Amino acid sequence: MPITVQDGLFSLTTRDSLYQMKVDSYGVLNHTWYGPKTDMDMEYLEDYPEISFSGNPWEAKFSRMYSLNDRTLEYPGGGISDYRTPAVSIIHADGSSSLDLRYESCKILDHKYSLPGLPSSFEREHSVQSLKITLKDYVHNIFVHLLYAVFEEENVIARSVQIENCSNDPVIIKKVSSMSLDFPTGDFDVIHFHGRHAMERMMERVPIGHGEFSIASRRGHSSHQHNPAFILAEPTATETCGSAYGFLLMYSGSFEVEVQKDQLDQIRVTMGIEPSTFSWVLEKNESFYAPEALMSYSDQGFGRLSNQFHDMFRNHVIRSQFVNKKRPVLINNWEATYFNFDGKKLLEIADAARKARLDMLVLDDGWFGTRNSDFEGLGDWVVNEDKLGMPFSSLIDQIHAKGLKFGLWIEPEMVSEDSELFRTHPEWVMNSPVRLPSRSRSQLVLDLANPEVVDYLDGVFTRLLSENDIDYIKWDMNRSISDFYSKLLPPIQQQETGHRYILGVYELADRLTSKFPDVLFEGCAGGGGRMDGGMLYYFPQYWCSDNTDAHCRTFIQHGTSFFYPISTNGSHVSAVPNHQTGRVTSLKTRGVVATPGTFGYELDLTQLSDEQLEEVKEQTEVYRSRQNLIIHGDYFRLSDPQTGIASWQISDKDRNRVLVQSVVFERRPNTRKPRILLRNLPAGALYRRVSDGTIFSAQALIYGGILLGCELETDAAYEEEFVRIEDDSFRPDCNSDSSI
Ligand code: GLA
Repeated sequence: MPITVQDGLFSLTTRDSLYQMKVDSYGVLNHTWYGPKTDMDMEYLEDYPEISFSGNPWEAKFSRMYSLNDRTLEYPGGGISDYRTPAVSIIHADGSSSLDLRYESCKILDHKYSLPGLPSSFEREHSVQSLKITLKDYVHNIFVHLLYAVFEEENVIARSVQIENCSNDPVIIKKVSSMSLDFPTGDFDVIHFHGRHAMERMMERVPIGHGEFSIASRRGHSSHQHNPAFILAEPTATETCGSAYGFLLMYSGSFEVEVQKDQLDQIRVTMGIEPSTFSWVLEKNESFYAPEALMSYSDQGFGRLSNQFHDMFRNHVIRSQFVNKKRPVLINNWEATYFNFDGKKLLEIADAARKARLDMLVLDDGWFGTRNSDFEGLGDWVVNEDKLGMPFSSLIDQIHAKGLKFGLWIEPEMVSEDSELFRTHPEWVMNSPVRLPSRSRSQLVLDLANPEVVDYLDGVFTRLLSENDIDYIKWDMNRSISDFYSKLLPPIQQQETGHRYILGVYELADRLTSKFPDVLFEGCAGGGGRMDGGMLYYFPQYWCSDNTDAHCRTFIQHGTSFFYPISTNGSHVSAVPNHQTGRVTSLKTRGVVATPGTFGYELDLTQLSDEQLEEVKEQTEVYRSRQNLIIHGDYFRLSDPQTGIASWQISDKDRNRVLVQSVVFERRPNTRKPRILLRNLPAGALYRRVSDGTIFSAQALIYGGILLGCELETDAAYEEEFVRIEDDSFRPDCNSDSSI
C-alpha cells in the first residue's frame, strides 16, 4: 500500500522512495525520513540532546530534553520556541500569533484530494491514494489539514495544506507554506533557476551555508527571474549519480522558497506563496487552501529526477487532451512583421508555409482595436478588419483552404490606456485609488481579483472562439504586476489581491479551456515569465523564451528541462541575424536547437529562397518523424552548455530509438573531437547508427560515447539517430577494428 498508518507512524511509499512522519508523546508530528526505501520505522535516528537556549513546552515540565527548536517537524507553526522559519503564521483575534499544532486525526482517501480553485495534480487511469492528517491548535481552534497524495510510478508525492478557522473570530493568515521539510543533516547544495526576460531558467548551484537562503518572486507571476522549482542535492550528486530532491510549486503567482541551515546543521525547506506581499482574512468556519507542491527523490542524480518530473507532468499535471498528441508545426508572424501586416501579407506567409508543408499559421499581436504599436489597443478584442483589408472570416477561411490551421494571439489580463475598455472601465485597473499606477511596456493590469472582470473577459473570449474557426490560442502576459490593489476589497483584505488575481487567471483559463477543449492553448509571458506547473495544468505548451538565438536557447532549454518535459517547450527557428542577439547561426543549427520542443518558425518565410524553403520543408518532415519521441520519450541532458557544447538525448521508453543532438559553439585548434556519452540504454542491447549503419553496443555508447565532427564552424550542429537491432549476427567482434 502506498500509504500506511500504524501507531502514529505514517509511511508514504513510492516505487523507489519512502516518506515518514511520526507523532511523538506530546502529540507533535515529527518528520522522520525522506529518501530511499528502508523498510522500517526511521524514528530510531532521532537524537535530541539538551541544547541551551532552546525552549521547552510547558507540559515537558522541567525536562530540558524536549524542545521544538531542535526537532525535525512536519509542519511547524511559529511563536512557540521553534526559532526557525515557520511554515505557517497566523494572527489570532486577540493579536497573538503563536500556533502550536498537535496531532488530531487522520484519514486515508482512495482518490486524489482536490484543491478548490487551484490547479493540482490528478489521477488518470489508476486511482491515487491520499492522506489527510489533521493538526490542531487547541487554544485557538485552528485546524491545519496536511494533504498528501502518492504517485507511485512517478516517485512523486504531491502535498498541500488546508487551514480551517474553527474559532469564533476571523484570523489573518500571514504566511502559509505549501510544504515544509526538515532534514536532520545539512550537507546539501541547492540548485535553482534564476534569469531575466529572454534569459530564463539559468541553472545555479550553491552550497547551503548557515542562515537563510531564499528565492522568490514578488511580481505577481512566477517570473523570469526565479522559477518556482528547485533541487536539494548531495554535494557530489551529478546528472547520473547521487541523492537529489526536487520540489516544484504548482503556482503562477508570487512565491518564496526558503532554505535554512540551523545551529545543529539541520535544514528546513519551506515553499509557498510569497509572505511579504500576502495575507488572508480567514472568516470563522472558512478554509484556505494553499497551492500544491510536488516533491520527488532520486538516488540516481538529476537525470532520473528530471525524468520523474517529466512523467509526472505528462501523466498527472497537464490536463489538456493535447498532452499526448502531436502538435502542429507552426509559423508565427511576430518576428516576420511585428505590427506591420495586412491580410495579404499573412496569406503570402501562409502560401510559403504551405510550400514548406507546415501545419498552422499563428497571427500574433496587432490584429485588434487600434493596436499598431505596444502603446495602444490592449483590451479591445475586436478584429481590425480595416488593417487586414478583408473580413476576419475570409482570412481564416483562406488559411484553412490552404490546408493550414489558424492560431491567434491574445493578452487577456492587460489594458492600454488608449483603449475603449480603459475609457469605459478605468475602475477595472489594478491600482490604489490614491496613487497612479506604474506602467510597464506602457500597459496596465486588469484587476482579475474582481470576478466581474473575469466574467467580462470570459464573455469576450468565448465570443471570439465561438464565432471564429480558431484552432490555437497563444495566451500572453507581458508585464510584472505592481500596485496590487483591488477596488472591490476592504483595506484589511488588500494583501489578498495578488493571490486573488492568480485565482482569477486560473478561473478564466479553466472556463475557456473547458469550453474549448479542441483549441490548443500555448502559454506565454514575454516568453517564459510564467512557465510553471500552475499554467501547464491548463496549457499543454509554453513559449519558453522570447530569445530564439540558438546559442542562448541551449542554456534556457537546459535549465527548463530539469523540471518541465520537452513536449511543453515552445521552440521556434527564427531569422538571422537573430533579433535578440544579432548572432548568425545556420538554419541547421537553429533547427536542431528547436527540435526538443513543439517546433515552428518565427521569421518571414516569404524572404527565404526556394532552397531555404526546401530546407525548412525537410527540417519539418524530419521533426515530424521524431514527434513521438519528443512527446512520449525520455530526455537526458548529456552536457552542460557552459562547456561550449550543448548535447542532449531523447529515447523512447523502450529504448528502441535514440536521438542525440549536439551543438558545438566553440572550436579550439589542436584538439581532439569532442566525445559525448549516451545515457540509460539497456546493457547487452545493440544499436545501428542510422547515418552510416555502424553497429554499437549499448555499453560502448554509454561508456565510450560517440565522437562529434570537427568542422571549423562556430555553430556546428550534429545529430545522430540510433535504432536498436535484435539480430545477434550484428554483434561487433571485440577483436576487430570497431569504428566508434
Ligand atoms: C511577447 C511575446 C512575443 C510576442 C509579443 C507580442 O513579448 O513573448 O512572442 O507575442 O509579446 O507583443
